[in-house]
Amino acid sequence: MPHIRTEIIAVNPVHPEPTAIERAAKLLRDGEVVVFPTETVYGLGAAAFQTAALERIFVAKGRPFNDPLIVHIAGEHELELLTTAIPEHAQRLAQVFWPGPLTLILPRGPRVPSLVTAGLETVAIRMPRHPVALALIRALGSPVAAPSANRFMHVSPTTAQHALADLAGRVPLILDGGPCQIGVESTVLDLCSEVPTILRPGGISLEALRSVLPHVQLPIQHKVPGRGEDVQAKKAPGQLLTHYAPTIPLLLFDGTDEAMRASMLAEMQRRSAQGERVGVLVADADVPVFQGTGSIIQTLGNAADPAEVAAALFAGLRALEEARVQVILCRNFGDRGLGLAIRDRLLKAAGGKIFGQD
Ligand code: TXA
Ligand code: MG
Repeated sequence: MPHIRTEIIAVNPVHPEPTAIERAAKLLRDGEVVVFPTETVYGLGAAAFQTAALERIFVAKGRPFNDPLIVHIAGEHELELLTTAIPEHAQRLAQVFWPGPLTLILPRGPRVPSLVTAGLETVAIRMPRHPVALALIRALGSPVAAPSANRFMHVSPTTAQHALADLAGRVPLILDGGPCQIGVESTVLDLCSEVPTILRPGGISLEALRSVLPHVQLPIQHKVPGRGEDVQAKKAPGQLLTHYAPTIPLLLFDGTDEAMRASMLAEMQRRSAQGERVGVLVADADVPVFQGTGSIIQTLGNAADPAEVAAALFAGLRALEEARVQVILCRNFGDRGLGLAIRDRLLKAAGGKIFGQD
């Protein structure tokens, strides 16, 4: 694609400046794409009803057209533009979790371009809670389709700098609202299947969803997290096994803290002895184990606090990439709360395999 100048405008994440929002909204109105912050990750937005603009999303990302997009709304009145039916349980979920990191799969309305849905009869809808995202959708006056603002197959961006690293020269504008609070993408919940099913674990935990809809289920592949199963969510097109993989191989370790540290250290030393540059993705408490070993250490914070780890995850992966490590050894962060989403992304980066299991 032709090289274009990418402008970055800093915006106040709580009270976005109207001039910046209006600039971005005008670009969207004119059929352009814009990168903007959400509470999960940065999105690459286009006006959801403009086919030529939607095409630009796929071109800028290098994303195949068979991977459907999430439509972002700023108010529930916009639902009727997008879907034919709003079941009672969808209303209850929206009441509790919107605005927020929950994407609902609903029957597709007739006006929704097939580029958005990749030809499916369903559409993915979410109301983000980031003030910049909401202000942008309101200023445009209609829904915004947006995938994560990374190049296809790369990790999602949680800062404007990450988005710039992937999309410089390919998008006209990035709104910089600082780092994203949640750090993993929204939970995608299928409400068109017989039983509401999580297609992608994310910013709203399974436990939280079940407090509203007790029968919410995980796809078969997620039922026994951590057993080396194929984690590909068959109903979420574009959820390639390596979707979240950084460009370097990642080995995911399991076991008790002690056993996990011991096997990570042994693997690290074996690889270092062969001249490999090894990165370790760990928690604060693991750092002393690896200090002075020659490995590149990246900590994600307190392993007992999945929200903290989630917020640091993608930046940590990118930092190890930038440090030019040849392999990443990564600890397990559990599967409670946001831990399930963290584990899902790490398992995908690891190609579904886990070290240190019986
Ligand atoms: O947090 C998020 O969800 C971020 C921010 C920008 O909102 N967006 C995001 O979009 O992660 P993307 O395109 O990277 O991931 C959307 C996921 C994909 O796995 C896609 O396959 C799935 O949602 N999806 C979209 N429409 C779908 C549909 N109709 N049925 C099933 N899955 C769908
Ligand atoms: Mg994505």
